[in-house]
Amino acid sequence: MSAAPFIIVAIDGGAASGKSSTARALSSRFRLLHVDTGSFYRAVTAELLRRGARAGDVATVLPVLPALQFGTQVHGGTAQMTIAGRPVDAAELRSAEVNAAVSHFAAIPEVRAALLAYQRGQAEVARAQGFRGLAMEGRDIGSVIFPDADLRFFLHADPAERARRRAQEGQTDAVAERDRLDSQRKTAPLACPPGAVAIDSTNLTLEQVVERMAAAIAARISA
Ligand code: C5P
Repeated sequence: MSAAPFIIVAIDGGAASGKSSTARALSSRFRLLHVDTGSFYRAVTAELLRRGARAGDVATVLPVLPALQFGTQVHGGTAQMTIAGRPVDAAELRSAEVNAAVSHFAAIPEVRAALLAYQRGQAEVARAQGFRGLAMEGRDIGSVIFPDADLRFFLHADPAERARRRAQEGQTDAVAERDRLDSQRKTAPLACPPGAVAIDSTNLTLEQVVERMAAAIAARISA
């Protein structure tokens, strides 16, 4: 019997569009490594802020970037970025300061370039740890990181519903403003790439979204 194929599932969408919940559910169902690339941009943002870089001031960012040493630890099926061997505190990743700065740093081409190979390298992490593939979520996974992914999804949801989801989580997060910055940047903007499966989750439950995606993945696996 031949080995099961390694599958890459790309899930893109705006802030609080349901990417993380669906990616986690699909990861455990299909034994995929869950990779939240937003958490990578958040970790880099927290570290840049700690080292004195300022959002909107590229000159304070560029000298710090080459010194950042990225690694990966896998916890509960999710890839966690380490910087200089240490994971960034989970609460810090979701802090109001990081929420406000992350899209500014993520718009800098050199920041994106610094993370490109690291993100693609998550496929090697998944293989080495015996996962059947990757469920990677972000903004440019299906367009830039893995344009040849086996499945590419793009999640939409009404902005008011997305703001409600974040508030329910107790977070201070201007989701519409982050989407505006993410959609308007020149490098790898947030956009549904041609050929991706677009799903509007505004009036769907998490289970309904997951079932739609899971059916597409199962069809692909058995094809
Ligand atoms: O997914 P999350 O909302 O945690 O992402 C935080 C920010 O990281 C986004 O608003 C965006 O600026 C940036 N990001 C990105 N490209 C990705 C993932 C996240 O620019 N692939």
